[in-house]
Amino acid sequence: MQKLIIAIDGPVGSGKSTVARRVAALLGYVYIDSGAMYRAVALKALRRGVSLDDAGALTALAQATHIDLRVQDGAQRVFLDGEDVTAAIRTPEVSQSASKIAVVPGVRHVLVAEQRRAGERGGVVMEGRDIGSVVFPDAQLKIFLTASAEVRAERRWREHQQKGDAIDLARTLEEVHERDRRDRERSSSPLVRAPDAVVVDSTAMEPEEVARLIVLLAKGQAAGKTG
Ligand code: DC
Repeated sequence: MQKLIIAIDGPVGSGKSTVARRVAALLGYVYIDSGAMYRAVALKALRRGVSLDDAGALTALAQATHIDLRVQDGAQRVFLDGEDVTAAIRTPEVSQSASKIAVVPGVRHVLVAEQRRAGERGGVVMEGRDIGSVVFPDAQLKIFLTASAEVRAERRWREHQQKGDAIDLARTLEEVHERDRRDRERSSSPLVRAPDAVVVDSTAMEPEEVARLIVLLAKGQAAGKTG
């Protein structure tokens, strides 16, 4: 079967990571979390005290950064200049900062090039905001995954609860709205649905159902291309 590039885009909390990881496992594909790259650059900027409003300094920082996504014991780990930052990039502070640095065209340019290199051979499931629209406009299968803001906030809140982060649900919903606004309104590669993307609303669906639906679509697509 042909090895596809599967692009999964959608807003925060739509379930992209869980679903993309599962689709990759079911198909034996590589899973690539493009958001982790924006998070890693944001973490480095925070640590170095680089202003999140200084586009030139952020671009230079991204150019001088080495991000490695490796699979270890079946789980993806994120390395920033050789240091394992898998947990460090998941704090609320890094989430907010990542959405700020993601508006900088120079940062996007560097990371999009990395993402293209990582996925060009196919057999990948890449998730993000602009994978189907910018990174791989020719991807054979594009999914735009969404869900209501309330359900997305609740999912994020549960993730934080499980990690022991004290954060309230109302605040999480506000943050979801804030990040949605920033992701959609930025001028450089905003979150948009590619015209040829399949829209999947996961508000009332379990991740496993969504993953199986995408696998069915992928198999249909691969069979159509080869047969
Ligand atoms: O998916 P995530 O929450 O880990 O992404 C972190 C931030 O990075 C998010 O605010 C949007 C941004 N992002 C982006 O602009 N483009 C991508 N392809 C992936 C993430």
